Amino acid sequence: MGDDAEQAVVDAGALPGGLGRVYPLGTRLSESGVLEIGGCDAVELAREFGTPAYVYAEDDMRERARATKAAFAERAVRFEVLYASKAFPCTAALRIFAEEGLSVDVASGGELHLALGAGFPPERIYMHGNNKSEAELEQAIAAGVGHVIVDSLDEIDRLERIAAGREQKVLVRVTPGIEPETHRAIRTGQEDSKFGIPMRGVEEALARVEEAGLELRGLHAHLGSQVFDLEVYQSLADVLQEIGDYPTINLGGGFAAAYTREDRPPAASEYAEAMLRHAPKDTTVLCEPGRSLVANAGVTLYTVGTVKQVPAIRTYVAVDGGMADNIRPMLYGAVYEADIVSRLGDSTPCRIVGMHCESGDVLVPEAGLEDPRPGDVLAIPATGAYGHAMASNYNAVPRPPVVFCRDGDARVVVRRETYDDLTRRDER
Ligand code: LLP
Repeated sequence: MGDDAEQAVVDAGALPGGLGRVYPLGTRLSESGVLEIGGCDAVELAREFGTPAYVYAEDDMRERARATKAAFAERAVRFEVLYASKAFPCTAALRIFAEEGLSVDVASGGELHLALGAGFPPERIYMHGNNKSEAELEQAIAAGVGHVIVDSLDEIDRLERIAAGREQKVLVRVTPGIEPETHRAIRTGQEDSKFGIPMRGVEEALARVEEAGLELRGLHAHLGSQVFDLEVYQSLADVLQEIGDYPTINLGGGFAAAYTREDRPPAASEYAEAMLRHAPKDTTVLCEPGRSLVANAGVTLYTVGTVKQVPAIRTYVAVDGGMADNIRPMLYGAVYEADIVSRLGDSTPCRIVGMHCESGDVLVPEAGLEDPRPGDVLAIPATGAYGHAMASNYNAVPRPPVVFCRDGDARVVVRRETYDDLTRRDER
């Protein structure tokens, strides 16, 4: 058997054309050519749970959590990997990351509530937010969260009052003046930012923290999201170390995920290497990725409804979800792949649109599908981060369920909303 033929046998179920990069680990084609996610046939998933549905391969999340931890463990003795829970604030996912021994970043009282409910020990919780309310700070202190990341001078005053003499551990968030190349809306390291303390104010903030009787453990910064450039992390480590010698530095998240088959995000080991290269041995280095742990674990399944040709212009393929379950294309111009789950291929150029009442409700502006027809199940991969998290009820559409798949078994971890849910908060 020649090398190529041998490869074909080995890869019989593998995804073609680099698609393996965007779908969850372990996704394959069944013998009848249907996508299988976590061992579950995507057409059957759509039939059983309805569409749209957020479908996740559980093992993908575990594998990425382990790989990220291992990447740091191979290079450092003192480190901590925090899951940035805003990417997918879902109890079942939080449980997985708690079980995998990660810590967690929460950015609101609600996220704190979820993390505690999912079983994170309070000392492994890091409380973020550029404008935490007094109630949220009280909630964090009462829960005994390990670290509060203080974001402003005003917040130091509030925390001084609320923590009143308790030695609450804090990190001070700084804006280091480093601008990674990424979408404007998700860039945070620049000086002109609502987040953190500007470099010129850091000395004052550190002194205020000490004065307030809080336990200063170190510094935090987050440069932005979907950051491919590794050098900015190294620069950040340098900038933070120049400020002073503290036991802990948290270099934030932003590890990139692959959204299209062309994307080549660095591996967790490369981020770890960049973060740790200049770190002193006795400093504990923290990272807090969200997207890279969950984006590629998730696939949204839709059903194709209308296929409409506009002569000489284009083909519109309309699905039963859209901007309410994935706002990222509209908000950031995010580009996704899409496939008919039982007929992979891209011979039909088309625009994949949602069912909401505006023209901007486009999921994939320039897609290639294989002869799309009404009733087809359509998959958009890499929707695991900030999809469910930012979903809305626009047009009074109930939000989709979250389904976890593993070894051929599927379980609903968040049920689909019902019409009753839509009126549940109405005062009678
Ligand atoms: N740490 C802090 C302080 C953050 O603000 C964020 C994200 C993260 C960590 C995690 O970033 P990640 O590793 O997930 O990139 N809705 C946008 C992303 C907003 C990110 C906000 N902060 C999107 O859909 O792309």
